[in-house]
Amino acid sequence: MAKIIAFYNNKGGVAKTTTATNVAGVLSLQHKRVLLIDGDPQGHTSLTFGVDADDLQTTLGAYLSSGWDAKQASDYFINVNDYLDVVPSNQSLSDFIIAVSGEDPKFRNKHLKNFIDPIRDEYDYIIFDMAPAVDIILENIVEIVDDLTVVAVPETYAVKNAETTLKITDDKQVIVRHIVPTKTQLNTNTHKFMLENLREVAEAHNIKMTDTFIPNLIAFAEAVSIYELPLALVKDNHYKSAQKYYQNLVKELGY
Ligand SMILES: Nc1ncnc2c1ncn2[C@@H]1O[C@H](COP(=O)(O)OP(=O)(O)OP(=O)(O)O)[C@@H](O)[C@H]1O
Ligand SMILES: [Mg+2]
Repeated sequence: MAKIIAFYNNKGGVAKTTTATNVAGVLSLQHKRVLLIDGDPQGHTSLTFGVDADDLQTTLGAYLSSGWDAKQASDYFINVNDYLDVVPSNQSLSDFIIAVSGEDPKFRNKHLKNFIDPIRDEYDYIIFDMAPAVDIILENIVEIVDDLTVVAVPETYAVKNAETTLKITDDKQVIVRHIVPTKTQLNTNTHKFMLENLREVAEAHNIKMTDTFIPNLIAFAEAVSIYELPLALVKDNHYKSAQKYYQNLVKELGY
């Protein structure tokens, strides 16, 4: 049965999508069967693989709105390689969120569970990329997630939001095991100093800041812009050293 993992921070731009897509890429190279689901109407998960979800009818929002489960939708998943499938999202996910906002939370929070349940045995990992939002999709993900990881850039705004994020997850009784520092620039005093603040936030909530830091490297954006792939899946020796970071993270998270 698939382990359900998610990467979250209610702050934007901290590398949730970059982390979700690269972790999915690394796992697929290890021949783990991965379903990567875009939980963000911005549609960046599929865009990482060169697919603009605005052109698609076959997206998470459409499936949820029409009551389709993942088994029914599986013919339309984007097959990246033999081990990695992607469920894209676009604005229709926001339409779905608005449409169900009046439902009793007992039902409202179960839509994603109902969606994935029929295919949980067909994957080793189901990975959610999440929006920088506190919304119904977050409520749905906390119902099913086995391992939620907070990603944060070691800067004032993101550290503040990491703390807010942990208050939200504490309230919802979600177990968070790790905070991953992303886009780090350890040659700067600001990042060195703010990393210690981030560590204190983690320790105050009894969770571990990973020993793996993801450094600020243009290679992550370059892979998406030039190869239409997460860096993890680019076959070019030039990127070998940059690819180590998410490989190490996958190891450290125990996947
Ligand atoms: N380690 C990194 N080094 C340099 N740039 C990075 C790194 N990780 C991500 N980026 C870049 O930072 C930007 C934001 O990353 P990303 O889209 O993954 O963040 P996000 O948290 O998913 O954002 P959003 O909240 O909008 O969904 C992107 O342009 C991405 O290429
Ligand atoms: Mg994103």
